[in-house]
Amino acid sequence: MKFLTKFRRHSVARPALLILALVVIGLGYAGVNPQRSSAETEMTQQIEEGKALFDLTCSSCHGLGAEGTSQGPTLIGVGAASVDFQMGTGRMPAARAEAQLPARQVNYSQEQIDAVAAFVASLGPGPETPKESEYTPEGLSEEEIARGGNLFRANCSACHGIVGGGGAMPNGEYAPSLVDTSSKHIYEAMRTGPQQMPTFSKEVMPDESVREIIGYLDAAHEQPNYGGLTMGEAGPVSEGFWVFVIGIGGLAIVATWIAKKGARAR
Ligand code: HEC
Ligand code: HEC
Repeated sequence: MKFLTKFRRHSVARPALLILALVVIGLGYAGVNPQRSSAETEMTQQIEEGKALFDLTCSSCHGLGAEGTSQGPTLIGVGAASVDFQMGTGRMPAARAEAQLPARQVNYSQEQIDAVAAFVASLGPGPETPKESEYTPEGLSEEEIARGGNLFRANCSACHGIVGGGGAMPNGEYAPSLVDTSSKHIYEAMRTGPQQMPTFSKEVMPDESVREIIGYLDAAHEQPNYGGLTMGEAGPVSEGFWVFVIGIGGLAIVATWIAKKGARAR
């Protein structure tokens, strides 16, 4: 008793008790709620890592809070899918502001890309990165793939060419070849509409149709003669060239043949 009274009067007693009480409450909370707090910490950690990388490599153009600068647009609300597409195809981080940023070698791990995507997604809602089941063409029937071909010709080939070989656009821009684009990035491009490309939302183009288009492109690029000539996969320009060669060439052959036949008959 004597000891306790003495301790209570001691100057560090109150702060020490307060700290002890806080530790006990903290441990109790962690014990009650272990799973939620560890998942939450993991997510916060990912967002923090993403923010650190963003500050370092992206903020010079997009601003520290991704609010945009004269060098780059705001990223608030573009969603994780846009970041995953832009970084995953090597377009971002851009070296400098250019009219059209081409796909390039990717120098970041998927983990780093996921972290930046999580940070950007935390700033405002936007299209999420898709799950594999949403974009894999696996398991599609011939019929669905054929439907994908129709959808592609109706919605995409005006810019990307009949089989996605790419094509020129007005004012020096171009729609790139889709031959080497991964299924995930095709999905994300449709949902986020980079540059001159229109955005195809889920309302306009449900996941099933997106998968069918991906299935068609996959089939077309696996078997180069799926649904016609690939024509060098260089889009409308080379398609026009081949129409010219085959058309005029064919006419020339027919004309020669008729001329010869005519000569013999005479
Ligand atoms: C040199 C400047 C520059 C740097 C550095 C840069 N960006 Fe960009 N970013 C741009 C410009 C300019 C655009 C607009 C391109 C366009 O679509 O015309 C853009 C577009 C984007 C978009 C598409 C936005 C949309 O509307 O969907 C995303 C996402 C993006 N950047 C992410 C990043 C990330 C993440 C980094 C860092 C890893 C980064 N950027 C670094 C200049 C930059
Ligand atoms: C109005 C023209 C236009 C239409 C229509 C269009 N795109 Fe695009 N697409 C573009 C342009 C331009 C780019 C390049 C954007 C960039 O570099 O940031 C592009 C980029 C892409 C990419 C990225 C390829 C890569 O890896 O570099 C994919 C995938 C894509 N488009 C798929 C589609 C699909 C699928 C459709 C139809 C549902 C479609 N596009 C319709 C113009 C178009």
